[in-house]
Amino acid sequence: MTRSLATPFTRHAGVAVPLIGGPMYPCSNPELVAAVSAAGGLGVVQPVSLTYVHGHGFREGIRYIRSLTDKPIGMNALIEASSKKYFQRMSAWIDVALEEGVRFFITSLGNPRWVVERVHAVGGVVYHDVTSAKWAEKGLAGGVDGLIAVNRRAGGHAGDKSPEELFVELSRFEVPLVCAGGVASGERFAHAIRLGYAAVQIGTRLIATRECTAAEPYKQAIVGAGEEDIVLSERLTGVPVAVIDTPYVRRMGLRASPFERWMLRGRRRKHWMRMAYALKSLWQLKRASLDETGRRDYWQAGKSAGDVHSIVSVREIVDELAAALEALPARVQ
Ligand SMILES: Cc1cc2nc3c(=O)[nH]c(=O)nc-3n(C[C@H](O)[C@H](O)[C@H](O)COP(=O)(O)O)c2cc1C
Repeated sequence: MTRSLATPFTRHAGVAVPLIGGPMYPCSNPELVAAVSAAGGLGVVQPVSLTYVHGHGFREGIRYIRSLTDKPIGMNALIEASSKKYFQRMSAWIDVALEEGVRFFITSLGNPRWVVERVHAVGGVVYHDVTSAKWAEKGLAGGVDGLIAVNRRAGGHAGDKSPEELFVELSRFEVPLVCAGGVASGERFAHAIRLGYAAVQIGTRLIATRECTAAEPYKQAIVGAGEEDIVLSERLTGVPVAVIDTPYVRRMGLRASPFERWMLRGRRRKHWMRMAYALKSLWQLKRASLDETGRRDYWQAGKSAGDVHSIVSVREIVDELAAALEALPARVQ
């Protein structure tokens, strides 16, 4: 008997496969987002990547993605109130996304209540990024419909728990949980769904695809990396971010400097330090991801890089993951 791929997540998002193409700064080019959705998963727009890295106006960029696929897409909203100007811009982007028909939102940091109110008003859903029960409680108090459980194997800002530990910790909330981190093979995908996750969010695997417009040396570095080549660096944002261990990363060191750590301790100082980090790292990561010479070897990737052995199309990845799930015995959803 073929297993149904339907889960509470697929019903929320209106997609066929319980898979999210995670938002990635700077790697979420519009063609990549569209390809994930077209293949049956949910492609998620990273707004700063869409505009600052890939040069689209926000509304025009969403329309461009929608010209490539008529399947649902999502949007990532980093809602930490870091500055009034940033907040106003994110708020306007959310309104534009809603006007353009986006109905699935992933909020990161901050209190998601105001996003939930706007999105629920038009029948959409909001999932919130969390790394522990403490953050899940805050997100759920804001009314979110599901949780993105970011584990310690994730690319981007990693959590500190294993996918199994995090599932046990979060399952008492009885909302759909999405496993974010460490999945790039059918085997790991099926394992996460068997644990009870309603979907899996992938990032690293999608960079080594034909549809991703990241530079070839970046893609090849992911193909060549093993799990042990992924290290956590505080030098980008002050909190650990997973990067490939390259000569550049070794020269920079992995820990924040004593001055940066001092800045991060005070409430006010922390605000300025975060702003400085954001400006510097947005620029550095953009340059590195697009540099075809490979000299700027500053590349984010998670431990799932160990399961990436070739550059393929997004559809091949989605088909492989869906097939691994279909092979599982059917169970009551
Ligand atoms: C290069 C890169 C950039 C990322 N940028 C973001 C981001 O801007 N916002 C976000 O919520 N998650 C970001 N992530 C996390 C992904 O959305 C996803 O949760 C993660 O990659 C899953 O782990 P995996 O890389 O092992 O598949 C990023 C991940 C990578 C690899």
